[in-house]
Amino acid sequence: MEKFLADTDWQAEERREGVLVEIGCGAGRMTRHFAEMFSSIIALDISEKMIDLARQYNPDLPHVEFRAGNGVDLHPLPDSSADFVISYIVFQHIPLPEVIHGYISEGLRVLKPGGRFRFQARNDHQHMKTNTYAGASMDLDIVEQLARDHGCNVHQITGRGEHYCFVELRRPKASQSV
Ligand SMILES: C[S@@+](CC[C@H](N)C(=O)[O-])C[C@H]1O[C@@H](n2cnc3c(N)ncnc32)[C@H](O)[C@@H]1O
Repeated sequence: MEKFLADTDWQAEERREGVLVEIGCGAGRMTRHFAEMFSSIIALDISEKMIDLARQYNPDLPHVEFRAGNGVDLHPLPDSSADFVISYIVFQHIPLPEVIHGYISEGLRVLKPGGRFRFQARNDHQHMKTNTYAGASMDLDIVEQLARDHGCNVHQITGRGEHYCFVELRRPKASQSV
């Protein structure tokens, strides 16, 4: 959690009203911490087994909905329905860059005006082969293009060229322009 939110202003703020979407929640390890910060959470994972475990380990979080997702996008979540989207140590296990970039596009699609999307992915280009343990790198040029296509800003990138690269994209408030 500290690593994920290092160099951000997220911790300094009060508990937030609004919807947080977590991509790849696993058994809900991070979700439990986010549940203290956010009033409503939709936590998705490709694995039904992980979702079952997350429900089992977190029965005391009525404002968190654990859901199995399809592994490639955020449907049926509507456009502009989330205040925050997060993903940590998930994209680094996805072997296809197009799936990683597709998820990034999806996170942007569901962001409301003023919304923030913070995620971690690999950006070390040395690895030649990928599998579900050592997934693919994202391409930051594509990420920046996706942000522009969705009318969003690149707020922060830390760890360029590294395994643990953190990106925060933000959708301007309705009155601001990109
Ligand atoms: C290392 S765990 C991290 C879980 C959680 N984010 C955490 O920090 O504790 C990676 C999770 O990503 C999920 N995952 C892998 N590929 C995924 C995909 N394409 N879509 C959604 N979740 C995925 C796995 O099922 C697993 O639960």
